[in-house]
Amino acid sequence: VTEKAEYKARIKTLLKEKNAVLVAHYYTDPEIQALAEETGGCVADSLEMARFGAKHSADIIIVAGVRFMGETAKILTPEKTIVMPTLQATCSLDVGCPIDEFSAFCDQHPERKVVVYANTSAAVKARADWIVTSSCALEIVEHLDAEGEKIIWGPDKHLGAYIQKKTGADMIMWNGACIVHDEFKTKALKDMKALHPDAAVLVHPESPAEIVDLADAVGSTSQLIKAAQTLPNQKFIVATDRGIFYKMQQLCPEKEFFEAPTAGEGATCKSCAHCPWMAMNGLKAIEEALLSPQGREVFVDMNLREGALRSLNRMLDFSA
Ligand code: 13P
Ligand code: SF4
Repeated sequence: VTEKAEYKARIKTLLKEKNAVLVAHYYTDPEIQALAEETGGCVADSLEMARFGAKHSADIIIVAGVRFMGETAKILTPEKTIVMPTLQATCSLDVGCPIDEFSAFCDQHPERKVVVYANTSAAVKARADWIVTSSCALEIVEHLDAEGEKIIWGPDKHLGAYIQKKTGADMIMWNGACIVHDEFKTKALKDMKALHPDAAVLVHPESPAEIVDLADAVGSTSQLIKAAQTLPNQKFIVATDRGIFYKMQQLCPEKEFFEAPTAGEGATCKSCAHCPWMAMNGLKAIEEALLSPQGREVFVDMNLREGALRSLNRMLDFSA
């Protein structure tokens, strides 16, 4: 029996004993996604993770993802214990959008609706009128635009630019980016397309505009997985975190998936198609989270919770 198998067996027992459930994002490592599936938990995009945790009957939710996902779970179900394998798992969008600066930016444009991406702190969510994830952002901005609203968008400038282009909405942007998606390279992707002319290109909209322009399908992690299933192509070039390959390969075993290039020849990148914070959710950390939740439990300031819940519920009701 391998060490990994031993970890998995102990985690399964602990999940049962403690009435806990494991919820994992598509960007976590394949063994973590498999474990969540085997134990009755779920593997999902950030919107579905929030919904799953909110309706599940477990006392403890183990959130294998990044900090904002744990906070969202706590905001939605404050009566539950929300634990993360590590609270150090943050997100460059969250880090790049501190509440004081963001709030001052919003104060300069009081006539605009504040729409923020879910990849933000509870404080930023509380300052927002609307929360969106990449799976519902387009529809929500379309709706606001149709009502004549002008928008402050934060923090992801690439997702914002994509939505602005699609909807024509009046948006002013915060200057944030995802360190993983920002690394995809246009010239190298064009070369790869030329090498595989029959491949469809799937792109997460946190990628730069020149990458999005080369896409056959653009969407949230769940939407990209759906595209892999429904498009007739046998080959796909995928511009998002490589964690997503686990589910794509599982659902489409006969299809072939290639990682979109993150660096030109000879170049290096800090986070080549894998989020360093998602990667912190290992088996050891999950077992430790179940054995000693102290220091791993997620808490949200109750004053912030009320405001964050209001804007989160707007999103959940809208996209129900
Ligand atoms: P999804 O909402 O598409 O799962 O994306 C979350 C995320 O962090 C992407 O980098
Ligand atoms: Fe944040 Fe990018 Fe990691 Fe997603 S992949 S959690 S946006 S840093």
